[in-house]
Amino acid sequence: MGRPRHFLDLDGFETATLRRILARAGELKRNRGDGSRLLEGRALAMIFEKPSTRTRVSFEVGIQQLGGHAVVLSEGDCQLGRGETMADTARVLSRYVDAIMIRTDRPRKLTELAEHATVPVINGLTDESHPCQIMADVMTYEEHRGSIGGRTVAWSGDANNVARSWVHAAVKFGFRLRLACPPALRLNGALLDWVEAEGGDVAYADRAEEAVEDADLVLTDTWVSMGVEAAEKKRHNLLAPFRVTEALMRRAKPDALFMHCLPAHRGQEVSDGVIDGPQSVVWDEAENRLHAQKGILAWCLG
Ligand code: CP
Ligand code: NVA
Repeated sequence: MGRPRHFLDLDGFETATLRRILARAGELKRNRGDGSRLLEGRALAMIFEKPSTRTRVSFEVGIQQLGGHAVVLSEGDCQLGRGETMADTARVLSRYVDAIMIRTDRPRKLTELAEHATVPVINGLTDESHPCQIMADVMTYEEHRGSIGGRTVAWSGDANNVARSWVHAAVKFGFRLRLACPPALRLNGALLDWVEAEGGDVAYADRAEEAVEDADLVLTDTWVSMGVEAAEKKRHNLLAPFRVTEALMRRAKPDALFMHCLPAHRGQEVSDGVIDGPQSVVWDEAENRLHAQKGILAWCLG
């Protein structure tokens, strides 16, 4: 038996594979009924060690639309919460289900699950990445504006797990990424070394205004990701200058789009005027989680 087709992080993929997944996602979105038997009878286990609205619902509905079904395990009601190892959990779930999606904190837990599972493992977010989200985001940008290749994308806010997956995407999909964030919250240096080795174009800007100048797409995310709540006050102080407001959006290209993976904290990282404004595509972005992940499931279960 070959190695399962895991969907772990964008940096581990060939661009052509990511493109293939997105093309499939687009087809499944356009012909909603056509995929209904694609994964007939297949089961997806979803492990949640952190809360979720979009990821949970879109995966559950997505596999159902493809003819399969999902089993949800939250930390509190499975044996992981009582110390059963990821490795043993992987071995057991692989005997019951055809794929495993996990949302967890440490990336090591994801890789441990993948090392010991004999079925595909999908990364539904860790402290360090959120690749399913960025697949949906790239799909959304391209539906509205055509290829993201060669565009300028600006991130203003915490350089978190979502930002890290955007860095991977910049290299894989060939766009410029400008990251405006407080120096204390920057991504670790090894990531930018990887970008350089891959010939990518990712750079930090000290000020939000600098990053968004002439951008085609402006992004942000919560200032306080799941797991860093203890540093909330400090983060609010550090991140306030990086709020995405109407004034900031005016510095980007006139047809620039605004995206946010959600949940949003209105009045903190983004103003109501921007998230509810004409440049915002956040609801399309949330919807595309469903379609992009159907493409991912179809690829993993081939
Ligand atoms: N964007 C996202 O992953 O949302 P949830 O935390 O609601 O799944
Ligand atoms: N950066 C956020 C993303 C939520 C989908 C978090 O990790 O909480």
